[in-house]
Amino acid sequence: MHHTVTLIPGDGIGPEVADATVQAVEATGVPIRWERVELTREIIEQSGESIPDYVLESVHRTRVGLKGPVTTPVAGGFQSVNVALRKRLDLFANVRPVRTLPGLKTRFQDANIDMIIFRENTEDLYAGLEHEVVTDVVTSLKVITRRASERIARYAFEFAQRVGRRKITAVHKANIMKLGDGLFLRCCREVAQEYPGIEYKELIVDNAAMQLVLRPETFDSLVMPNLYGDIVSDLAAGLVGGLGIVPGSNMGERHAVFEAVHGSAPDIAGKGIANPTALMQSAGLMLAHLGEQAASEKLQSGITRVYAEGKHLTGDVGGKATTKEFTEAIVANIAGSH
Ligand code: NAI
Repeated sequence: MHHTVTLIPGDGIGPEVADATVQAVEATGVPIRWERVELTREIIEQSGESIPDYVLESVHRTRVGLKGPVTTPVAGGFQSVNVALRKRLDLFANVRPVRTLPGLKTRFQDANIDMIIFRENTEDLYAGLEHEVVTDVVTSLKVITRRASERIARYAFEFAQRVGRRKITAVHKANIMKLGDGLFLRCCREVAQEYPGIEYKELIVDNAAMQLVLRPETFDSLVMPNLYGDIVSDLAAGLVGGLGIVPGSNMGERHAVFEAVHGSAPDIAGKGIANPTALMQSAGLMLAHLGEQAASEKLQSGITRVYAEGKHLTGDVGGKATTKEFTEAIVANIAGSH
């Protein structure tokens, strides 16, 4: 039986890393039919919609998407595609595993970092409720609900229990946002009581940022509202080698979209030097989600071996290889393990 997956290459370096990832997934031998849908800044500007219907229809049908980045204009212009996709498909949980890749030289290469960040994906300051009260005075509304907070907390605890994680830290700023973050924290505490086998801790977000840099190896799983999740997960990506490395998934009740943490990298787009590792590792998560555990492990160990050898790495992680050379090394490694 084959799986059907919606492939959204995106724009900028998106098509380059997506093509590389398709090659790596196919090398595992897993039977996937890709339903490729184009989504770029130009298409969005011309159609006037952040998510044209054909994209939603495809993900509704396949239930699983693999997505590259799409450029979003800063300060003005259309709503972010990712925000729109998460809202329209109710992809409420953003899950980002952050792990040391053995062999990769980073400032923290000796720390054995292995954490999972669970970010609430639908509300908080991403509600997009901004209002210019009078000229030069703007309010941006931060929305926190019991429903969304409980849902992400429960998702994190269930996930942790399933994969044998031992500790969850809720990250917040409830000392200042007593009502909003206070509600988030209350929900985490309540859900935590249902999982006595998992240690529960709390950290204020600024302290969490410092502790992550000082003692990254002591973190296990973290759960937090949307904006802190956005910032903290990029910080965590920096600990293990940067945006070119870290994968992510957006999970809902019915749909799942897997994507890298990085953006469209306009500074290097079209040069053939982008690092496809983050999207490849996202595809590894996707394969596990599809029940293709063996293929997922093959892909992951192919990546791990290429990093351990260190001969075919891209420029962002200190190597000289092009996207093509790196991908060929991955494919050869996966093929060699059959
Ligand atoms: P970015 O992640 O695109 O780039 C930041 C820096 O990291 C750049 O120097 C870039 O060259 C480098 N980089 C990122 N990914 C890399 C990779 N795979 N290999 C090698 N180097 C890599 O972030 P930036 O510049 O803030 O955003 C550019 C555009 O992407 C913006 O329009 C933004 O809105 C959009 N974006 C889209 C996302 C998505 O669709 N998932 C996520 C984040 C940003």
